[in-house]
Amino acid sequence: MSDAPAPNTHNTPKSMDAIMALCKRRGFIFQASDIYGGINGFWDYGPLGAQMKKNLREAWWQDMIMNPAWGRKGPNGDRVKCVPVETRIIQHPKVWEASGHVGGFNDPMVDDKETKQRFRADHFFGVFAKPFSTSWDLETEARNFAKQAAESWEVFPVLGIVASTAGEAEAHLIEHVKGLCKAANLSFSSLERVSDHIIIKGRQADAAMLIHIRQIAPDRLARDAQRLNIPSPFTQKKGTLTEPRQFNLMFSTHVGATASADDKAYLRPETAQGIFLQFKNVVDSTRVKMPFGIGNTGTSFRNEVTPRNFTYRSREFDQAELEFFCHPSESQDWYRFWRDFRMEWWQSIGLRGENLILREHDKDELSHYSCGTSDVEYRFPFTAPGFGELEGIAHRGDYDLTQHAKHSGAKLEYFDQSRGEKLPNGSTKGERYMPHCIEPAAGLDRGVLALLCEAYTVDPSRPSPELMKFHPRIAPIKAAVFPLVDKDGMPEVAEKLYDELFARFGRQGFIEMDAKQSIGKRYARMDEAGCPFCFTIDGQTLTDQTVTVRDRDSGSQQRLALSQVSAFLADRLGG
Ligand code: GAP
Repeated sequence: MSDAPAPNTHNTPKSMDAIMALCKRRGFIFQASDIYGGINGFWDYGPLGAQMKKNLREAWWQDMIMNPAWGRKGPNGDRVKCVPVETRIIQHPKVWEASGHVGGFNDPMVDDKETKQRFRADHFFGVFAKPFSTSWDLETEARNFAKQAAESWEVFPVLGIVASTAGEAEAHLIEHVKGLCKAANLSFSSLERVSDHIIIKGRQADAAMLIHIRQIAPDRLARDAQRLNIPSPFTQKKGTLTEPRQFNLMFSTHVGATASADDKAYLRPETAQGIFLQFKNVVDSTRVKMPFGIGNTGTSFRNEVTPRNFTYRSREFDQAELEFFCHPSESQDWYRFWRDFRMEWWQSIGLRGENLILREHDKDELSHYSCGTSDVEYRFPFTAPGFGELEGIAHRGDYDLTQHAKHSGAKLEYFDQSRGEKLPNGSTKGERYMPHCIEPAAGLDRGVLALLCEAYTVDPSRPSPELMKFHPRIAPIKAAVFPLVDKDGMPEVAEKLYDELFARFGRQGFIEMDAKQSIGKRYARMDEAGCPFCFTIDGQTLTDQTVTVRDRDSGSQQRLALSQVSAFLADRLGG
């Protein structure tokens, strides 16, 4: 709406539309089955996106498995040890009964009988509105109104909005301002946030509307008398919503040709279970000793009811999960260790500053298996001013191993030779126990999305104002080599440099060489793709064997000996 500005609750978030347009234009992310009109909840990666996601996965693999926690010592004083597994998407169907996903992986869903659309009952926000005069005391009015909306079931929302957070719901408010004003006979002037409250001001003196947004508790939707007075988030009509009903998020399939009920199997909803299933084999086939971690990356599937916000909530996505097993007495220390390291790790690859938080879950938020969870949350443009989950770090106790031991009959306890009472010969008697498990569970697609949003920068002072400020480790294009002009011996020098850089850094990402178009256009193209360094061969190169290196973020250039380019890059990229 051009005449209704966004509420000034926070620095204007980056435009998701602009980010998505750049992703398509430059080949980061495409809608799956695009030429058929797409398929909801599924996304493909183009050349730049595929390489970027590979870089993210490899950074995770390196820092969580090959050199866990950057070689730091854990709370037990030893170096952290981790090994990988790679497990299948389809497992024995009993796995998901044991894990709790068959019985418990349900979201309460509400259907709109008119539009046949469905939403998660716990993702439903109501907008409450009441007439207000700007001459009244805002704090008192707003406080009383918020209390009424929370406590009185006589006060109903005027709008329904599907959103994950109040911030996201607030961002959607803008789409409804005209309708709200019309219904209240208010001629719209502005939508404003004054201290912590939202008011819509009218053109008439003092005339305004006080707005309060709050989540509609699923139990309100469960009661007919309440639900009939709550507007549908799709049509804003009352009386068309069903009571919340359970909906299992696992995709099912059949294994084998008969497709009978006995052959039913599920696509995994998380990579974590594969680790528990192979815990015993890993212990028996390697020399790992408690405490240690097992990492697994790969694709998971969830039949999300409302896939949205680009790749944020997809139906097919990749996870990178570590299950770190330890003695129960050390589990709280390891939980804190991994929680803090994961936050640091996301910062180290470019998610900096106020857009990243670590949030400890309240007790009533915990999953069925968890006795402590923290989320690393990122302020995505669509959650701003709030945050959305990027990774969960859960203390799962011994839930999973105990469940699988019970359901499979396998003995999954660990015999720890280093524990137990000291024997006269100086050794220890050993202790048998069910290990506890700390799980840092990251989403690679959400990770890519957060990195894209963080990197996206608009700088109107530049000839081509959109650029992607990726951390060099994540950038899909690591370097570009440009001959200033496509003649006078410059292309030959450029090609030689390109060959050298490709041989050394080509495994980490693209090395580009481009001789077409003006140099300004070539720089702009690389800025948009997030290439951190461009090396240009010019007339001076031919006389003194130096090149210019251009820094993407500042646009500044310095001269560097041709022979130093490789070392310069190695310093910044590693390798
Ligand atoms: N094993 C625990 C587990 O799977 P989760 O919080 O459900 O925990 C872990 O998922 C991570 O996987 C999330 O933090 C998120 O990054 C990613 N994820 C979960 N559902 C997703 C979806 N529908 N689309 C994209 N990423 C998702």
